[in-house]
Amino acid sequence: MQITGTGFFVPEKEITNADLEQMVETADEWIRQRVGVERRRISEAYTTADMGARAALAALEDAGLSPADIDLILVATVTADTLCPSTAAWVQQKIGAACPAFDINSACSGFLFALDTAESFLARGTYENILVIGAERVSRIVDWTDRATCVIFGDGAGAVVASRGDRFLASLLYTKGGDDVLKIPNFGGSSPFYKGETERPVIHMDGQETFKFAVSKMVEDIEAVAEKAGISVSEIDHFVCHQANIRILTYAAKRLGADMDKFFVNIEKYGNTSAASLPIALGELARSGRLRRGDVIACSAFGGGLSSAACIIKW
Ligand code: UT7
Repeated sequence: MQITGTGFFVPEKEITNADLEQMVETADEWIRQRVGVERRRISEAYTTADMGARAALAALEDAGLSPADIDLILVATVTADTLCPSTAAWVQQKIGAACPAFDINSACSGFLFALDTAESFLARGTYENILVIGAERVSRIVDWTDRATCVIFGDGAGAVVASRGDRFLASLLYTKGGDDVLKIPNFGGSSPFYKGETERPVIHMDGQETFKFAVSKMVEDIEAVAEKAGISVSEIDHFVCHQANIRILTYAAKRLGADMDKFFVNIEKYGNTSAASLPIALGELARSGRLRRGDVIACSAFGGGLSSAACIIKW
């Protein structure tokens, strides 16, 4: 597999920390220092699929391909607009493609789970080009009265075209099932036979436990995937990681003995966009002029499940 195009889309509406100070008891300084977010984009009218489709079209343009060239669409999301059709099916309709399409849910790690899945399909030898998308309208599932979570998240979508090639050097996926640290309950359902309590379908997160999991798994995963690729951490040119908290990235960089300048950071602009965060970062890095052909990129993500994933890509 190789990545032949990247693209991303974020909604125009920007919510600053000052705006949030009007909604919950928080402070711009606290959010900047503890999380690293200054502003985030919020979708008023774009559905998750609308954003995913826009990111997909940008990636197709970058790859010089059209929707007809795509053999499969994978969308990583925890904020599907409808349980059925899948977000991927909506994206297929919106961009005018005709290929199979399905969603993957592994929370904030979802994009890397989808990328790994794409490689398996390409390895069969029957598909040439796969659209891998991370798209999230997280604002729909945030409790806007909970200051511990509402200051963190944002909406957006990122996409790549994954084509046959030999530049996906190694990948690993991890899941430790359980909902004690991070969960988003489903809607209550309609069964007249069910008498259980229903929880609100919003993000419930133990921030500190998630933080500890994130730092230790990022370090462990990047070291393991680098070894799998036969390279040392010092040979990695760029770290493109899930943008959840600037402190998570700085701790991980320190433990890996890596220069923080090699870590791509855009959390200040977009906050945590869940499965969209990594492909948005990759799309921005690709457009920054800092990526050279042959550069080695380590990607790492973590989130609900609990889950984590990492891969090594040669650009
Ligand atoms: O993509 C999914 C993965 N998610 C993550 O990676 C999240 C990982 N966790 C984190 O990023 C951090 O744990 C948070 C940003 C969620 C919280 O930061 P923290 O430094 O761990 O804060 P804390 O939960 O230990 O709370 C410290 C204090 C508390 O006040 P007291 O009890 O010390 O008086 C909180 O009530 O900060 C308070 N606090 C806030 N204060 C101002 C919590 N949220 C806020 C806020 N504004 N928004």
